[in-house]
Amino acid sequence: MNRENLIKHLRDLPANRRVITALDVPGQDQALDLADQLGAGGGFVKVGLELFSAAGPEVVRQLVARDRNVFLDLKYHDIPNTVASAARQAAALGASFCTMHAAAGRSAITAAAEALAQAELPDGAVRPALLAITVLTSLSEEEISEVRPSSDNLDDSVQRLARLAWDCGCDGLVCSAADLPHLRQAVGPEPLVITPGIRMAGAATDDQHRVTTPRMAVDAGADFLVVGRPISQANDPAAALAAIAKDME
Ligand code: C5P
Repeated sequence: MNRENLIKHLRDLPANRRVITALDVPGQDQALDLADQLGAGGGFVKVGLELFSAAGPEVVRQLVARDRNVFLDLKYHDIPNTVASAARQAAALGASFCTMHAAAGRSAITAAAEALAQAELPDGAVRPALLAITVLTSLSEEEISEVRPSSDNLDDSVQRLARLAWDCGCDGLVCSAADLPHLRQAVGPEPLVITPGIRMAGAATDDQHRVTTPRMAVDAGADFLVVGRPISQANDPAAALAAIAKDME
């Protein structure tokens, strides 16, 4: 599927399918248990570095077999051939999203996008969307200057990397709601944007410094929301997810 059609297909999903539940758990059993608790309304789940390091590709296969769309968040950052090969494997697993660092550079982003466009997919699967990370939101200005001394300020780096990733064929970007207006200014309305740091009004913020309600994130231009603890630690995860989806509408 070409980029335009894939973005349209994903953007047109109902709100409950545009909430991505982060499976921030240490093993397959806990992950499948949480995915099952989301019920029929739970669409996307995020498999990140912790769960993948513990449970490997089998947990992705199990989730896909349970009709979950998998956001495979392994943040590739390597040479073009390796990134493209990894993206191809994500497609073969049936993942719906995979992520890479835009800082891997033009050749690596282009190679990953081309690999996904041509990848062999499981029967009936849609190819994974390629999402780029610009600058990790956990980095302070001081830390950034330690790893990459430059005249660019943080906002300029985010905009420059976002433009690069979009020009090289990625389908979307990951960013906090606070940075969204800035990011949209750089790349316009077309790219998908996926936003973490979501809390319902008045809820505990945990260790997130800047949080946004689902409604505010959507109003700022987010297409998908990544939500962890507000769903995983709720007494009724399916109800928590439904409330978030309702707030988005
Ligand atoms: O529990 P909570 O909703 O805060 O979890 C948010 C999820 O989004 C976690 O998996 C976290 O790693 C991820 N994330 C984030 N902030 C970023 C990027 C990713 O919270 N800037």
